[in-house]
Amino acid sequence: MAFNLKGRHLLALKDFTPEEINFMIELAETLKKNKYAGVRTKSLEGKNIALIFEKPSTRTRAAFTVACVDEGAHPEYLGKNDIQLGKKETVKDTARVLGRMFDGIEFRGFKHETVEELAKWAGVPVWNGLTDQYHPTQILADFLTVKESFGRLKGIVFAYIGDGRNNMANSLMIGAAKMGMDFRIVAPRSLFPENSLVEYAQGIAKETGASITLTDDVAKGVKDCDVLYTDVWASMGEEDKIQERINMLKPYRITMDMVRKTGKEEMIFLHCLPSFHNEDTELSKTYPDIQEVTDEVFESKHSKVFDQAENRMHTIKAVMTATLGA
Ligand code: CP
Ligand code: NVA
Repeated sequence: MAFNLKGRHLLALKDFTPEEINFMIELAETLKKNKYAGVRTKSLEGKNIALIFEKPSTRTRAAFTVACVDEGAHPEYLGKNDIQLGKKETVKDTARVLGRMFDGIEFRGFKHETVEELAKWAGVPVWNGLTDQYHPTQILADFLTVKESFGRLKGIVFAYIGDGRNNMANSLMIGAAKMGMDFRIVAPRSLFPENSLVEYAQGIAKETGASITLTDDVAKGVKDCDVLYTDVWASMGEEDKIQERINMLKPYRITMDMVRKTGKEEMIFLHCLPSFHNEDTELSKTYPDIQEVTDEVFESKHSKVFDQAENRMHTIKAVMTATLGA
């Protein structure tokens, strides 16, 4: 089914119905096929897109940039040190200025309120490229990858293991509730998501047939899972918490033993990336135990992390064309 999302913002998946989420994923499948077939629709021809980044990024920045160029738009990267936002100018003023020049605005940063304020005042579609609270475009790529593996989302048994209260855990929980999954957060109790968000997700789950479980018991949490998902143990902006998180989350590292505990031979491993899975990054030299997943799992046949990373581009293209395209 097709939905008209023209002019809509994408700040959080809460704002979209399951059917609309499905539509964006299906559109991404079509755009992916088109790209592979060499078909270019150029549906953003003549548009100018602002890409605001308060935090660093590889995938999100690259995905927005390539998606813009593929569809004929001009992307303009506005890094936090390049613009006045928040230092010499309010978010409200920046939004009104950029909205006069650009046709769409991507924002990645700290406070979720910033992207909401931009959306309130810009007068053009605003897309959340990650805040401390949510990372909605990532979920579309994750779900496209799940669909490519299993042909469906409804009924998929999905465990997110690790820091259960970060932007990924929050967004996956809402997305999974909307799409009717059996979703588990497997984390120490002190890292469970906020009660209000859990209650919200459980309310949605009642309507969609999803189930939402929080547990600190790894064996129970991963049993029967089609998907094991993790993220870094300390997110951007939490660098001072790295050692504390390592101490808390070491028992939650994804290992081959955990993979076997799912009891599912065809299970897949997903990760939004970037990931610590060996000793070859600067931070893993300083913190030898920082790995949230072993190299063995990361490099195994179960791992779909690079399909997932590629899917960022196709899904972000779907979001931009659905909300802004000709
Ligand atoms: N997954 C993700 O958002 O990656 P980047 O931080 O590299 O954009
Ligand atoms: N939770 C991570 C996600 C990175 C894509 C972070 O916010 O750093």
